[in-house]
Amino acid sequence: MQIPISKFDAISQQTIEIREPVLADGAQMWRIAQDSRVLDTNSSYAYLLWCRDFPNTSMVAEIDGEVAGFVIGYTRPARPQTLFVWQVAVDHPHRGHGLGVDMLDALLESCAAQGVTQLETTISPDNPASVAMFASLSRRRGAALTRTPLFTADQFPGGHQPEDLYRIAPLTPQEEWR
Ligand SMILES: CC(C)(COP(=O)(O)OP(=O)(O)OC[C@H]1O[C@@H](n2cnc3c(N)ncnc32)[C@H](O)[C@@H]1OP(=O)(O)O)[C@@H](O)C(=O)NCCC(=O)NCCS
Repeated sequence: MQIPISKFDAISQQTIEIREPVLADGAQMWRIAQDSRVLDTNSSYAYLLWCRDFPNTSMVAEIDGEVAGFVIGYTRPARPQTLFVWQVAVDHPHRGHGLGVDMLDALLESCAAQGVTQLETTISPDNPASVAMFASLSRRRGAALTRTPLFTADQFPGGHQPEDLYRIAPLTPQEEWR
């Protein structure tokens, strides 16, 4: 069970809580993914399942009681030291205030304490916001960010951009930085 991170933002006068998701968050996560118009839309069932089975490798950000963003991930079964981040989204009104990178940072802090030493994600070349966010995260963590091709466009049925694999490593809990 992760410890929720709560802070009051003096500029927006809002209380932001970053915590692991519960079942009741699934519907809002699905709505935010749909509204992003960038992410592949998984079924609402998938988000409920994620909240049930992978809460300790996922996060939601709640602002004044409303879900404002989420990160869903899992540790790779064959490589449990690797956290794979599947989707990150911040609802439109809350973008550009550091919420995306704050959720990822909170997730990494929690997962590093569980033995995770590497983050993986995939990003398509038409998503510079996502590249910028993960680059910012790697700088924050003092870790290297590397990119290699993973899924090519012709591997996706129905048309899809290629997806490059980005890795951030090595990861250590912040308490070990001192
Ligand atoms: C990508 C996304 C999650 C970023 O959320 P956010 O809360 O606005 O991002 P942050 O404010 O935490 O920004 C983190 C860094 O990325 C940069 N960034 C964010 N959006 C950017 C954009 N559109 N263009 C360029 N850089 C951007 C910020 O400047 C910041 O960099 P810095 O720390 O060096 O200043 C959000 O734009 C989103 O939900 N997009 C749609 C879904 C998506 O593409 N998800 C990622 C793939 S799974």
